Amino acid sequence: MRSRKKKWADPFISVHPDLFPSPQGLDLNKPSYLEIGCGKGDFLLGMASKQKGDYLAIEKDHSIAAVAGKKALNAGLNNVRLFASDFDELAPIFLESGYRFAKIYVNFPDPWPKLRHHKRRLTETSRLTMMAKLLDEGGEIRFKTDNADLFEYSKEQAPLANLHIVYSDDDYALKEDDALTEYESQFRQYGIPIHYLILNKEEK
Ligand SMILES: C[S@@+](CC[C@H](N)C(=O)[O-])C[C@H]1O[C@@H](n2cnc3c(N)ncnc32)[C@H](O)[C@@H]1O
Repeated sequence: MRSRKKKWADPFISVHPDLFPSPQGLDLNKPSYLEIGCGKGDFLLGMASKQKGDYLAIEKDHSIAAVAGKKALNAGLNNVRLFASDFDELAPIFLESGYRFAKIYVNFPDPWPKLRHHKRRLTETSRLTMMAKLLDEGGEIRFKTDNADLFEYSKEQAPLANLHIVYSDDDYALKEDDALTEYESQFRQYGIPIHYLILNKEEK
C-alpha cells in the first residue's frame, strides 16, 4: 500500500495514547484479535463494529496507521488499538507480555514476487511460527490474498511452522464472520478471485 507521508501522522499518533498505546502492559479482554498489516483499517473497523472483543492492529507505515486511527476515532470504536510498528519488532513484545489471540488476520500482504525477497513475506515460516506462538488454544490464523503464487507459498510454509490447514479456498465468497478490506473491495470489483486459508496449530 503506497501512501504519501502525512505530516500530521506522528503528532496525531502521539496525542491519542488510548488508540495508539504502548505495547507493554495492555489489559486485554477475551476474545482478542490481531490484524497484521491493517492498511487504512477497513477490515479492522468492519470487524470491531460487529463483533465483541478487543481488536489490535499493526501497521508499519505511520501515515497509513494514522488514517486507520482517524477512522476508528470517527467511528467511536473503543475496542480498537493500533500499533504503528513492524510485526517483527512487536511480536516478541506481545509474546513476552503474554498476549494471546483467538484469531490472527493477515489480509492481502505485500506479495514480494521476486525469489530473493520471499524472506520478507508475512507468511514466511519464521513469521508464521511467531504467529502460532501468539495464538490462544484453538486459535486460528486467517489469510486472504489475490496472489496465487503467494497463496501456494503460504500453504507450503504452514506445515514448516507446525500449522495445519483447516480450510483452503481458491475462490472465496465473503462470509458473515468476515469483513471486506480496502484491497479486497477493489479486487472483487474487477472479478479477481480471492484465495482464503485458515490455519491452526492443533492436531486434526
Ligand atoms: C498490500 S497492503 C494491504 C492492506 C490491507 N490489509 C488491505 O487488505 O487492504 C499491506 C499492508 O501491510 C503493511 N505491512 C507490511 N509488512 C508489515 C509488517 N511487517 N508489519 C506491519 N505492517 C506491515 C504495509 O505497510 C501495507 O499497509
